[in-house]
Amino acid sequence: MSTWIRLFAVASMFIVVLLSGETSTVLAKPTEKTSFGKTPDGQNVDLYTLANKNGMQVAITNFGGIVVRIKTADRQGKTDDVVLGYDSLDGYVNDTAYFGAVIGRYGNRIALGKFTLDGATYTLARNNGENSLHGGIKGFNKAVWQAREVAAKDGPSVELTHTSKDGEEGYPGNLSVKVVYTLTDRNELKIDYSATTDKKTVLNLTNHSYFNLNPGGSDVLQHVLMIQADKFTPVDAGLIPTGELRSVAGTRFDFRKPTAIGARIDQDDEQLKLGKGYDHNFVLNDKGREVELAARVVEPTTGRVLEVLTSEPGVQFYSGNFLDGSARGKGGKMYGRRSAFCLETQHFPDSPNHPKFPSTELKPGEKYHTTTIYRFSKQ
Ligand code: BGC
Repeated sequence: MSTWIRLFAVASMFIVVLLSGETSTVLAKPTEKTSFGKTPDGQNVDLYTLANKNGMQVAITNFGGIVVRIKTADRQGKTDDVVLGYDSLDGYVNDTAYFGAVIGRYGNRIALGKFTLDGATYTLARNNGENSLHGGIKGFNKAVWQAREVAAKDGPSVELTHTSKDGEEGYPGNLSVKVVYTLTDRNELKIDYSATTDKKTVLNLTNHSYFNLNPGGSDVLQHVLMIQADKFTPVDAGLIPTGELRSVAGTRFDFRKPTAIGARIDQDDEQLKLGKGYDHNFVLNDKGREVELAARVVEPTTGRVLEVLTSEPGVQFYSGNFLDGSARGKGGKMYGRRSAFCLETQHFPDSPNHPKFPSTELKPGEKYHTTTIYRFSKQ
């Protein structure tokens, strides 16, 4: 090859990289493990980058089981990172928005940080006014998990395990938790959660990724959302479900037909006022509790599509109302109000205090197992 041809080849590679917006290099192996730094108490933390054959990449750290990056292509083939987060471990150590993290022991709120099991009242750490949110003061999002690469049949995989001690944040039982992240060749990030306990307890695990399928844009109000839910759970001023399962028909919570997130968000509506936008649990239509399609989001400018499939009975749709630009994220970006959305698949908030909601109890001898899939495509 002449020098000119070689120069031309190198230059065109650079142009492709520049045009694609791709900042990371192609991985030599489907899973690459690199150091992600040390926690303030001196524990080493790693970053596992999974890649599939289509060039999609997902990076996960064993600090908080956090999804640090999801790089997917748009309809032009331009690759971008579609989740909010930070450039380094420090950001996640100080984070208060739960960017990308595994949430446990209990996703969302438990009223007054209290519940009763078999006559015993448990008092939890309160970290959200008078309520307990996302596991309490030190939830699973701040734990250093054990990690190992595993050979899953459907793609590169990382397995995270964590033991939560009896009484931690007020919850009963020694709990062994496992979260397996797999990146499939169908461009899916599959999350398998499992757990066992040695004492009756409650458990509600989820992932708190914040998505913006058009990261070059500002907010997510143009994203078009569909949720397979005929009902949602209205909340009180503390964002605790009232217990009612309300029909979405004729309300601003009807996403059964694809509707832009911003179409009705600022309308005069008691529930939207309480949530400062959408911050509500949707009751997924029960099709037999297999891993079913729960929600679909289409971003019209980039053509990116996100489908959320789950075995869970609910999904918390949170429109990023509390993001206020105070967190300095990736590349120094300030994440403003509604600059991302979350679709947190889970059981309903405050279920331990609502016997009519699907149960979140876990007994010794039982195995907790749920699956959620975030599937990416374009149109
Ligand atoms: C909750 C919001 C909360 C956010 C960040 C969501 O799951 O529903 O109310 O502000 O998490 O903590």
